Amino acid sequence: MKTETILLHYGYKPDTTSSQAVPIYQTSSYRFDSIQDARDLFNLNKEGNIYTRIGNPTVSVLESRLAAMHNAKGALSVSSGQAAILYSILNLASYGNNIVSSKYLYGGTYNLFKYTLKKFGIDVKFAQTNESNDFEKLIDKNTKAIYIESIGNPTNRIAEFEELSSIAHNFNIPLIVDNTVSPLIFNPFDFGADLIVYSLTKFISGNGTSIGGAIVEKGDFNWNNPKFKDEFDFDESYHGISYIEKFITSGVFVTKTRLQLLRDIGACISPFNAFLILLGLETLPLRIEKHCKNASKVAKFLSVHPKVNWVNHLSLPDHPDYKLANKYFKKGFGSIIGFGSNGGFEKAKAFVENLKLIVHLANIGDARSLIIHPASTTHSQLTKEELDQALISVDFLRLSVGIENIDDIIEDLEQALGSI
Ligand SMILES: Cc1ncc(COP(=O)(O)O)c(C=O)c1O
Repeated sequence: MKTETILLHYGYKPDTTSSQAVPIYQTSSYRFDSIQDARDLFNLNKEGNIYTRIGNPTVSVLESRLAAMHNAKGALSVSSGQAAILYSILNLASYGNNIVSSKYLYGGTYNLFKYTLKKFGIDVKFAQTNESNDFEKLIDKNTKAIYIESIGNPTNRIAEFEELSSIAHNFNIPLIVDNTVSPLIFNPFDFGADLIVYSLTKFISGNGTSIGGAIVEKGDFNWNNPKFKDEFDFDESYHGISYIEKFITSGVFVTKTRLQLLRDIGACISPFNAFLILLGLETLPLRIEKHCKNASKVAKFLSVHPKVNWVNHLSLPDHPDYKLANKYFKKGFGSIIGFGSNGGFEKAKAFVENLKLIVHLANIGDARSLIIHPASTTHSQLTKEELDQALISVDFLRLSVGIENIDDIIEDLEQALGSI
């Protein structure tokens, strides 16, 4: 099956009711046939449902579609993008380890990395720029991964994916890419990534109803290397099973995450949210194309508007990563635009408050166009210095361009700019 077909059909066989829609299996638990059946399931001697914290049939359809859409070995869906990111790190790093990360990140990820992971004894070293050698020089014997966003939210900075991947692999560590802002327009696995994390809350859902996250595992990273062997080859909490041996076909990494972290920490997605996100996935190919087309038109409009000082979108030739973007993002440049109006914060505030159609809220990737002022909201926990480092100026407005008629979006921007 090709992608559009996968997202409509893959991974679901109608159950005894012949239901066409994927059923919402809203159950916490599943009946066992016998004591032996229960024992086999608990000891991983056979596959099956036990308890929705670690697996659910509605959620499984979502997971298998996410894996198939990336031609990947496995996927795990969790309660939020943040949970997916946290689990992707906790599954490979522990006390005394570190990861090396881009500094161009969603604000929530930056907080998680800078403050919360420290409480787990995991240090995050931020590369000075997105140049590959700035990552390489931070790697030491305790480094367990390189982490980047496909297109940094909201500053639209990108990296040399293949270079970072070969640096990571030289050190026997995986490259993790948060692909939240570029599903279907970019597959990080084609450029050397080993793990993808998603906030499903955004473009994949597209309807602004549900929070969800996922980890997708390509499946060819060798976990049987000195950096990971102990962790992946012997699990005391499952009578010493080896994930490397037992789960080579279903995804070593995501299976270990499910069996250890979902079991013990429990950030599982609800079946109802999985169902709503599955509905979103069905139309993702159509939506993401329109998002990108509209965004490039909006970026062009803003870039020549006299009341706009600067515009940041990968479609614009003056973007510092324009050349790289043309190499990697052949299907579209994403739909997040940063821009600043003449007159700094006061004008930015007036502009947002004068918008009539574009919605002022904390989200991206909804089918509707959305706007926010990151420095006072999503990135407000960053110090002034950190904001400068992350390229978030006080006049920075983040626009997530939706799939409305382009004339209506531009008319709203025009009237709000006219009012300041
Ligand atoms: C790039 C990126 N990753 C992760 C997240 C976190 O996702 P969630 O809100 O689903 O926890 C966000 C949220 O805005 C995001 O923009």
